[in-house]
Amino acid sequence: MLVSKNLAVNEQGHLTAGGVDTVELAKQYGTPLYVMDEGLIREHCRSFKESMDRYYGGEGLVCYASKAFCCKAMCRIMLEEGLGLDVVSEGELYTALSVGFPPEKLCFHGNNKTDSELSFALEKGVGRIIVDNIYELDRLNRLAEQTGRNANIMYRIKPGIDAHTHNFIMTGQIDSKFGFALETGEAYEAVKKAIECSHINLVGLHCHIGSQIFDIDPFVRAAEVMLTFIAKIKDELGFEVKELNLGGGFGIKYTEEDAPVAYDKYMEKVSEKVKEVCAEKKVKLPFILIEPGRSIAAPAGITLYTVGGRKEIPNIRTYVSIDGGMCDNPRYALYQSKYDVEVANKANLPKSETVTVAGKCCETGDLIGEGMPIQPVEPGDILAVLATGAYNYSMSSNYNRIPKPAVVMLRDGKSRVVVKRETLDDIIRNDLD
Ligand code: LLP
Repeated sequence: MLVSKNLAVNEQGHLTAGGVDTVELAKQYGTPLYVMDEGLIREHCRSFKESMDRYYGGEGLVCYASKAFCCKAMCRIMLEEGLGLDVVSEGELYTALSVGFPPEKLCFHGNNKTDSELSFALEKGVGRIIVDNIYELDRLNRLAEQTGRNANIMYRIKPGIDAHTHNFIMTGQIDSKFGFALETGEAYEAVKKAIECSHINLVGLHCHIGSQIFDIDPFVRAAEVMLTFIAKIKDELGFEVKELNLGGGFGIKYTEEDAPVAYDKYMEKVSEKVKEVCAEKKVKLPFILIEPGRSIAAPAGITLYTVGGRKEIPNIRTYVSIDGGMCDNPRYALYQSKYDVEVANKANLPKSETVTVAGKCCETGDLIGEGMPIQPVEPGDILAVLATGAYNYSMSSNYNRIPKPAVVMLRDGKSRVVVKRETLDDIIRNDLD
């Protein structure tokens, strides 16, 4: 079974993505190559939007977390699908604005935004600036005052939920560089302060409990904790928090071991909880935002490589070397993330081998995976790593001065380049003589 639903094998035994022969793509555009399926990206956007409509009467906004995969084409797709965008740097913000993204549908994140980033966001009228700490609040208030503007903000809150364990460790998350802590009273004091700030409009609260989460319960619990806080703010300070941003983090299937929940189940359960707590605490239903990144982009992407060589080390392992590596996909090196691989030109054969896929960087840890089941593989084969649509291109680097691969987008059986392959001249572009 192939992990993403847009993948199949054609009569020639080649892997296809969105109905397009990936071996042909490798021939046409060269390797390494990122391939994204626009149809599947749009399908994911619609399913999140539909679940917001079905379970929460459409009183919310799905914002794609562009850190997962950001380029002009991707921002345009989000614009056309009616989503908002979560941006986390001036670079992502600039990319979004460059395609005419409405600033009011942008959420600007970051735990240490610079004055230049904040001024840029203010000047462009970004809809929601997610303030991370009290210093940022002061700076933003001052910058807004200087330019005669008001800043619409949300506060990033640490709700004290550890989503990576199945038991919630309610204090575990206090050790995080992001946001204001609830349990120490830090968040409460910050709310009081924001209400008093002359040029700040506190529209909502935000939390993000983690990434690649398979369980719905931590999300439901986070919603409950956040609404309880919203009720306290109303009761004690007489202030209405109108919006609640519950972040992203929905898990996807990288390998057979992963069992993600259907995303509409998430909105169903969270909406139920939000309505229940609001009724109980007599709080007005907030406008809800969610920020899926990985779940929109990852399953829609694959990366194609050419195999350069094999190294069989008896009784130890077999290395298969590819023409990319940690420079285009650092996730195994960073997190030991698991991926499925296919020999794209032999995808109909059984996976009779187990190999370590090694990159070409001058670094022992430059691996795409170890113990990977694969079809019989030899130099010249095209290797496809699956579900690489998120946090691959966006985390790529020029380590070893290796140019970044191109990104090709597939739509209705056709392909087009949306990000050009870097050239050697790009590599020396900023070097001065
Ligand atoms: N919202 C906020 C505030 C976030 O920090 C993130 C991810 C998201 C939304 C989107 O989360 P997603 O739906 O994609 O899980 N580089 C890591 C993932 C880092 C995620 C950081 N924040 C990886 O490759 O697994």
